[in-house]
Amino acid sequence: MSKPLVSTVPTHVAIIMDGNGRWAAMRGLPRTMGHRKGVEAVREAVRTAGDLGIPYLTLYAFSSENWSRPQDEVSDLMGLLKVFIRRDLAELHRSNVRIRVIGDRVNLRGDILPLLLEAEETTAANTGTTLCIAFNYGARDEITRAVRALAQDVADGRVTPDDITPAAISRRLDTADIPDPDLVLRTSGEERLSNFLLWQAAYAELIFVPEFWPDFDSAVFQRALDIYARRERRFGGVAAPASRAVGGA
Ligand code: IPE
Ligand code: IPE
Ligand code: MG
Repeated sequence: MSKPLVSTVPTHVAIIMDGNGRWAAMRGLPRTMGHRKGVEAVREAVRTAGDLGIPYLTLYAFSSENWSRPQDEVSDLMGLLKVFIRRDLAELHRSNVRIRVIGDRVNLRGDILPLLLEAEETTAANTGTTLCIAFNYGARDEITRAVRALAQDVADGRVTPDDITPAAISRRLDTADIPDPDLVLRTSGEERLSNFLLWQAAYAELIFVPEFWPDFDSAVFQRALDIYARRERRFGGVAAPASRAVGGA
């Protein structure tokens, strides 16, 4: 008998959208075509999360290390984010999606930051899925900014070193009001975190699927969720009695 599905829908799914370039290369197309097709996969992923009642969906859209890509590609990715917000914001708002952006906002191009702020403000009161866009995001950068802010608090006498607890650090991260991810999913077969949510994913289930991001659809999403539902999460404890029973006795 297969194990009962104890944990069903995760509260927070975080996705490393990877493989746009390889998707394009396989078809003899420029990488940018992969990114373009990837935007369609983003739309479907957000729809699916809404349909399944997933409260939080985080998408890794641009890392703090992605600036090292050729300038053309960086411009292309920036352009696609702008087009996505401009074209999709109204529809996302109608669908009750709440948008959040994590990542460093300092030094963002002048035409991007206002759009991100507009997306957050417009949708702030929505009660459906929270779509958290990780843009210019890197976990080491995020943690460094948090540590710097705490050091400043100590220097200014607002807190003492003893006040620096894991909870205090969490509150200083970009994700302060967002629950830790239950599932970190990466497409394209690569099995690494690439500086994504290193603190928050401490107890996340990791699932790697072979599909390139442009081929990520609701069926692939559902398959990953089925794998997740069969995982046993322990958080350093021991297995729950029901799932420890062998042979159903
Ligand atoms: C993911 O696809 C998109 C971003 C990182 C923004 P890639 O561009 O990394 O595609 P591959 O990994 O080179 O195939
Ligand atoms: C991670 O993918 C970043 C995003 C999905 C935005 P990368 O393609 O940049 O990661 P590496 O370089 O393969 O580790
Ligand atoms: Mg990649």
